Amino acid sequence: MHSWIKPIANHGSDEGSHGSAPAQQGRVMTGGFGNQSQALQRCVEGFIRQYGHEPEWLSHAPGRVNLIGEHIDYNDGWVLPTAIDRRLAMAARVIDRPEILLHSEQQTHARIFSLEDAWQPKGDWTDYLIGVMKAFLDRGARPCGLELSLASDIPVGAGLSSSAALECSIASLMEELWEHRLDPVEKVILCQQVEHAFVGMPCGIMDQSIVTLAKKNHFLLLDCMDRSHQHIAVPSNFPTLLILDTKVKHALVEGAYARRRQECHACLEALGRSSWRGAEDMASTKLESLPYPARARHVISEMARTLQAVDCLQKGAWEALGDLLYQSHASLRNDFEVSCPELDWLVEALQSLGPSAGVWGGRMTGGGFGGCVVALVEPLQVERILGRLQSGFHAQFGHPPDGFVSTPASGCQIERPGPLHRLDHPDRFGRTPRRLSP
Ligand code: GLA
Repeated sequence: MHSWIKPIANHGSDEGSHGSAPAQQGRVMTGGFGNQSQALQRCVEGFIRQYGHEPEWLSHAPGRVNLIGEHIDYNDGWVLPTAIDRRLAMAARVIDRPEILLHSEQQTHARIFSLEDAWQPKGDWTDYLIGVMKAFLDRGARPCGLELSLASDIPVGAGLSSSAALECSIASLMEELWEHRLDPVEKVILCQQVEHAFVGMPCGIMDQSIVTLAKKNHFLLLDCMDRSHQHIAVPSNFPTLLILDTKVKHALVEGAYARRRQECHACLEALGRSSWRGAEDMASTKLESLPYPARARHVISEMARTLQAVDCLQKGAWEALGDLLYQSHASLRNDFEVSCPELDWLVEALQSLGPSAGVWGGRMTGGGFGGCVVALVEPLQVERILGRLQSGFHAQFGHPPDGFVSTPASGCQIERPGPLHRLDHPDRFGRTPRRLSP
C-alpha cells in the first residue's frame, strides 16, 4: 500500500472505476471520504501497478446530489446541491515525452494521446478529460507530458455528476502542472464550456459549481443567474441523505435534455423576456398561451420551491421540506417529463412509508430519465427503509436499486503529499514543487 494513503476498512472491489461503484446490494454503503475514499487508494495503487512508480500528484473530486432546484440552473433559477462522499480520483506524474498516458481502473492498458495531435472528440468518457486539456491549451497553458491513472466511486450515468468530477479534477491538475491558474468561477465555466463544445451536452452551471465549491457539511445555494452562492450549514439534526440508484442509465447527450432547454427558451421568446427571473408571479392563464405551458409551470414553481426549501432547511422543518421534495418530483414527472417508472415507483414508495416509518421525503435528482432518487430519512430507520424499498422494487422491476447514505462532503482538492525531500528540489522542468495541503 502506498505510504501516503492510510489503510481503510472495507476495501472496495476493483470493479469500480469511472464505471460503477462496487455492488453491495441490500447493504447501506457509506462512500468514505469522510475517512478516506476508496477511490483515492485504488487510484494510487492502480497508478503504481500501471507505471511502476509512485504518482506525484493526486487530484480528487466528489459526485453530487441536488436536494431541490432541478432543471432550473439553465433557466436563471436557484439550486441547492451538496457534494456526496463518493469521489473520483486522478493520480499524475510529469514525464518528459509529449504524450498523455491515460489509465483507468477498468482498463489493462493506458491510452496514449500525443500532445502534438489536434484533439477531436471520440464520443467516449475521455472527451471530458481531453476536452478540458484542450481548453487549457487554447488558453495558452504550458503543456507537459503526463502519466495519469484514475479510479472512481461515483456511478456513471446515475445523475450524480461523475462527468463534472472528471472535468474538475483534471482542470485542477492542469492548473498546477500546466501552470495556468483560474479562479474557481472561471474553472467552473471552462468545464461547462467543454461539455457544451467538446462533449455536446448543453448542461447548466450546477454540477461543475458544486463539485468545485462544495464545503463539508453544507449545501450550496447557487443563484444561477449571477453565479453568486451561499453555503448553508447542515443542522445537527438533519435527516440522513439516502441515495437510491435505479441503475437505469440516462444518456442526456442523446437529445431530450437539449430539447427541454429549447422548449424553455421558446417559452421565454414567446413572452418577449430574456430571463425567467421576475416571471414568478405570472398568471396561470398567461402560461397556458405559451408553446410549452407545462415546462414553464415547472420552471416557475421549482424556483419558488427551492427558496422555500432553504427556509425549511434553516428552520429544521423536515416534514415541510419533504413535501417540497415530493412536489418537485411530481412537477418533474408531470410537467417537465424527465422522470421514468423506476424513479416514480421509488418516490411513491417513500411517500407511502411516510414520516411514521421515518421517511420525510424524496425526489428524483439530477437530469432524470433514470439515475437516482434522493430521500431524507431518519438515521435509525435507514436499513429497514432500504430493505423494504429494495424488495418491493426488485419484485416490480427484476433488480434491486443500490442504496447508500452520504454526508455533505468537500469539493475538488489537489494534493502533493510526496516524500519531503522531493519538495526541496526543482523538478526536471526547473519548477520547485510545493506541498498544497498539510
Ligand atoms: C444535469 C445538468 C445540470 C442540471 C441538471 C438538472 O445534471 O448537467 O446542469 O441542468 O441536469 O437539474
